[in-house]
Amino acid sequence: MADEGSPPPGGDGSPHRPTRGEDASSRLNGLTRRSLLVGIGAAGGAGAMYAAMGVLGLAPSRDTAPLPVVGGSAAPPPYAPPQRSDFALRGGRPASVLVLGAGVAGLACAYELGKAGYECTVLEASDRVGGRSLTLRGGDTVTELPLGDGAGEAAGGVQRVTFGEGTYFNAGPARIAQWMVTLDYCRELGVPLEVFVNGNSAAYVLTDGMKGPVRVRTARADAYGYISELLAKAADGGALDARLTAADKERLLDFLSHFGEIGPSHAYTGGERRGFRVNPGVGPGAELGAVPSLTEVLSQGLGRVLTMDAGYEQAMPMFQPVGGMDAIVRALARQVGDARIRTGSRVTEITTTPGGVEVAVEGGPPLRAQYCVAALPPHLLARIPGNLGADVKAALAAASPLAAGKLGLEYGRRWWETEDRVYGGATETDLDVGHIWYPSYGFHGRRGLVVGYYNTGADAEAYGALTHPRRLRRALAQGRKIHGRKYGEDLLASASVSWQRQPHIEGAWVRWTSPAGVRLLQRPAGRVYFAGDWLTHLIAWQAGALESARKVVTELHHRVLKEA
Ligand code: ALA
Repeated sequence: MADEGSPPPGGDGSPHRPTRGEDASSRLNGLTRRSLLVGIGAAGGAGAMYAAMGVLGLAPSRDTAPLPVVGGSAAPPPYAPPQRSDFALRGGRPASVLVLGAGVAGLACAYELGKAGYECTVLEASDRVGGRSLTLRGGDTVTELPLGDGAGEAAGGVQRVTFGEGTYFNAGPARIAQWMVTLDYCRELGVPLEVFVNGNSAAYVLTDGMKGPVRVRTARADAYGYISELLAKAADGGALDARLTAADKERLLDFLSHFGEIGPSHAYTGGERRGFRVNPGVGPGAELGAVPSLTEVLSQGLGRVLTMDAGYEQAMPMFQPVGGMDAIVRALARQVGDARIRTGSRVTEITTTPGGVEVAVEGGPPLRAQYCVAALPPHLLARIPGNLGADVKAALAAASPLAAGKLGLEYGRRWWETEDRVYGGATETDLDVGHIWYPSYGFHGRRGLVVGYYNTGADAEAYGALTHPRRLRRALAQGRKIHGRKYGEDLLASASVSWQRQPHIEGAWVRWTSPAGVRLLQRPAGRVYFAGDWLTHLIAWQAGALESARKVVTELHHRVLKEA
């Protein structure tokens, strides 16, 4: 853990109510560390589990198992990058290191070790660096694997991306919280940042319990209003007297009058926070219309959609690199140097020996080095033969990959700004598209890119099983439920990524079906270290990959210095 104030292992206590047959981790607006880390995909498989949990409306609890807390809850010492001068003081020489995987973790390891002169060679199976940090632009291609069970429509396919000049689509990571180490790397590497609008009161919510979309601000005003009314009346009526002193009660009522915009009678009757049908200007504006009843508001099931930006990882302000998230991995790769990064190099065997490491690569001679950092997805590492031990293999195999997908829609008209007055942010839904994102860059430009779906779990599996044109059709039909006809008009180009179908990745992130082996993987297997977000409490965040890289680099460097 970095600087998170150490939540209890395996849970931060966030209430979480997954819906529509998805598990807790699949609803990212309410994403919690616990929901990402903990898995229960035992008998019946993940799909059955998602479905069961959706029906029950329950987050994992009894059967969950926490990720071990390495280093306990104390703040770790500040990171001290390896330096050449460390060897001058202690003797010895920087070692040679094979880094497996040019994703964020692998590149960060090579970059940090490079500061002290380590000879790093990064082996990457695909033809590009970045791993899941993928930004698509015009001219790129997206290749997907055929579905393993043959159930998909496409036997693998290639999309050619035709976005216009200046349009980009962060198909992987897209937002950075201000406390995350990722921002420190942006500072160090000179990657310029801009605000990522995560929460927007002008965006919409659409749940199964609603007849149509409602602006976030309206839904929030009604929910907060009625909750405040109920609580205030309960306090007034003495129902909370066992918990409240007279002074507490007064302060609570004062709080609720602000929180819910309720008047002296404590009844919620609406107010300006709901928004206007005609905005105020020279005139006073026109009210939105009738306030729904308490029963209507409660039946809307707004808890999840209204708390999207309340999570520690999701709170505003959030940030994005100017021009695309891949600016970070590009900057890291530049520092590491092209000559040290071998793309198209798929690792087929990993052997650790008392004196070094040997790595077999498809179509080439084996490579040797003194150490290795394996920064591949654990479920892929588990399949690579070698002599790392049955316990290591079993631990790796306990990482279960999860599905996620994103669709980028490039429009020739920024109707969400000009007509809906939505500038960035997200519409949260119970539809199978999950989240719709409006761009946080290019405001008032001629074109713009909307994320037409960002879904996970069962929804991502369903979209992932389709060809791109069918994903598009399905997502447009869903989006029209929020934005109407214009959602299908002025569309210039689109591209989608199904992370479980990405070659050499095969999953958006992992869930540990059993955490027992994680501690083992947080230590080296002989001369092979492991790195990745999957070894941290920040699964599915670049920050996890970077924190893990720093930990491994520190340990490897200390070992080299000690053995000098
Ligand atoms: N880090 C991922 C997100 O931002 C899970 O949605």
